[in-house]
Amino acid sequence: MCLAEGEGRNAVYLATQRFDVTCVDFSESGLKKTQQLAETHGVSVCTECADLSHYEIEHEAWDGIVMIFGHFDEDLRTSLYQRMSAGLKPGGTLLMEVYSKEQLSFGTGGPKTIEYLNSKQELEAAFAEFSSVSIQEVTREIKEGAFHNGMSATVQVQCIK
Ligand SMILES: C[S@@+](CC[C@H](N)C(=O)[O-])C[C@H]1O[C@@H](n2cnc3c(N)ncnc32)[C@H](O)[C@@H]1O
Repeated sequence: MCLAEGEGRNAVYLATQRFDVTCVDFSESGLKKTQQLAETHGVSVCTECADLSHYEIEHEAWDGIVMIFGHFDEDLRTSLYQRMSAGLKPGGTLLMEVYSKEQLSFGTGGPKTIEYLNSKQELEAAFAEFSSVSIQEVTREIKEGAFHNGMSATVQVQCIK
């Protein structure tokens, strides 16, 4: 499952690797582009238009949950991270990359207010119960279009429930 999946680049990549992918976003136009991208690559993905503020993730239903550059206020992050944890099967994989609070000083993309940015500590606390936890702060050059361009500060999450 790919959350806040936008125009579908992660979902379509996973589908080309033979995963069955469902993606969720509240942007209908983004999901339409996801379907177009999937068609271009000769794969199919399931798209669901929903607001993650109150999206129910089925309990222990997913082998993997991916969320790349999904940024929310702290209350929503807390609630969503709990739902993501509960939605993974035991042994399931969580993959995330999000901008960290240090990103504000780079100004090369992402949210402009600190409230929407993440920290390693917050993510470690959110997924502390997982059997394997790998969470790192990374400074790297991102070249992903005009709005995500340049040296950037992110947190990368790779955890197994
Ligand atoms: C920066 S884009 C990232 C898209 C994609 N994950 C990627 O890596 O290319 C953030 C996405 O989060 C979605 N989004 C933001 N808030 C949301 C919410 N409350 N519910 C569902 N989607 C949301 C936006 O529509 C947007 O497509």
